[in-house]
Amino acid sequence: MYVWPCAVVLAQYLWVHRRSLPGKRVLEIGAGVSLPGVVAARCGAQVILSDSEELPRCLQSCRSSCLMNHLPHVPVLGLTWGRMSPELLSLAPIDIILGSDVFFDPKDFEDILTTIYFLLEKNPHAQFWTTYQVRSADWSIEALLYKWKLKSIHVPLHSFGADKEHLASSSLPGRHTIEMMIISLAQSDGTSVYSTLDFSTR
Ligand SMILES: C[S@@+](CC[C@H](N)C(=O)[O-])C[C@H]1O[C@@H](n2cnc3c(N)ncnc32)[C@H](O)[C@@H]1O
Repeated sequence: MYVWPCAVVLAQYLWVHRRSLPGKRVLEIGAGVSLPGVVAARCGAQVILSDSEELPRCLQSCRSSCLMNHLPHVPVLGLTWGRMSPELLSLAPIDIILGSDVFFDPKDFEDILTTIYFLLEKNPHAQFWTTYQVRSADWSIEALLYKWKLKSIHVPLHSFGADKEHLASSSLPGRHTIEMMIISLAQSDGTSVYSTLDFSTR
């Protein structure tokens, strides 16, 4: 029911990369109010929004955001992290997965990454674009990335003009420490399998 500070940062990343978005197939997980997914859809991506199938009010929030932003045809799915549901198994091919502030509770971290691993195995060229708020220096997904044969690249906020307390007329980022990373499938030598795919703005 709330736009989290991370959403504004991820939306800014999408806006900066908007020229690469038309035609891209995008899935947002844990979408809630769905700001990043809505921005991607408004920039021409084919977006699917999702939130937990056990949280119907959050799914309704995804639908309301679409309607308010004149996106009545964006599909909204119940996708619970870590659950092999028929909706997950029958998803169409995707290029980009979005996740804003989904790493907020360590008990969910492996469930999120198993869902991401499943999707990247099916779509080896795809990337998971995710922003997270640093809530504890003790939390880490490094061991889980290794376990699930994933790799992450840190994207500095200043590289897309998001290192500000006020962003796109929003004061939400404030003094929160927000980070962005791009997670993708790693090959056994640790290199990316999608290195020829270009997501740049050009
Ligand atoms: C901190 S909120 C972030 C919402 C939105 N992405 C944003 O940044 O404004 C976390 C979101 O994850 C969803 N969520 C929580 N547990 C989940 C689960 N097990 N599977 C899928 N979504 C979940 C919540 O319903 C909520 O929308």
